[in-house]
Amino acid sequence: MNKICFATNNKGKIAEVKSLLQNKFEIVSLQDIGCVDELPETGSTIEENSLQKAKYVFDNYKVACFADDSGLEIDALLGLPGVDSAHYAGSRDNDKNIALVLENLKPFSNKSANFKTVITYYSSNCVCAFEGLVYGKIIDKPIGNQGFGYDPIFVPNGYNVTFGEMMQTEKNIISHRAIATKKLIAFLEKNNF
Ligand code: IMP
Repeated sequence: MNKICFATNNKGKIAEVKSLLQNKFEIVSLQDIGCVDELPETGSTIEENSLQKAKYVFDNYKVACFADDSGLEIDALLGLPGVDSAHYAGSRDNDKNIALVLENLKPFSNKSANFKTVITYYSSNCVCAFEGLVYGKIIDKPIGNQGFGYDPIFVPNGYNVTFGEMMQTEKNIISHRAIATKKLIAFLEKNNF
């Protein structure tokens, strides 16, 4: 079975991808390939960061790999917080990030937003990107304590609960990450990687 490195240190993401892959591929972590480096994330878009991380791992460790990058894009804020989602309010503080989003969005009646994930696969013969988008709207105050990040203020279209109120298993079926991951898996299967 071919080994593919998922260039993340997030154990939850690795478990999620492994469950979607159902043992069709051997997924190894950064730790498994001996990488303890901080991956570069200096791009100005989600796409760039995803590519930058995958390229770094391939260039330095010579293993086929994929990396993801995600964020929340709010239409009225012209796509912000976007690539800066993790530290929109200046640090990696979810409550402060949410408070700043709600403050900045107050003057606008258009509350539509989407979560985006871009996964970049990088190997000796191919570089390919896969996008996952979930559309919805931002509500006025946080509800729910499941999940992470902006989950408590995002209601996906077709639902009347936030990601923060959903069971993780339910969110993981419809999430931006799941959509991008399923595209990656279809690609790997089609090309017999
Ligand atoms: P990452 O690239 O997956 O680490 O995501 C970057 C940031 O985007 C996170 O720190 C969160 O602030 C936000 N984010 C990404 N995905 C989600 C999600 O599924 N729910 C809530 N926030 C998210």
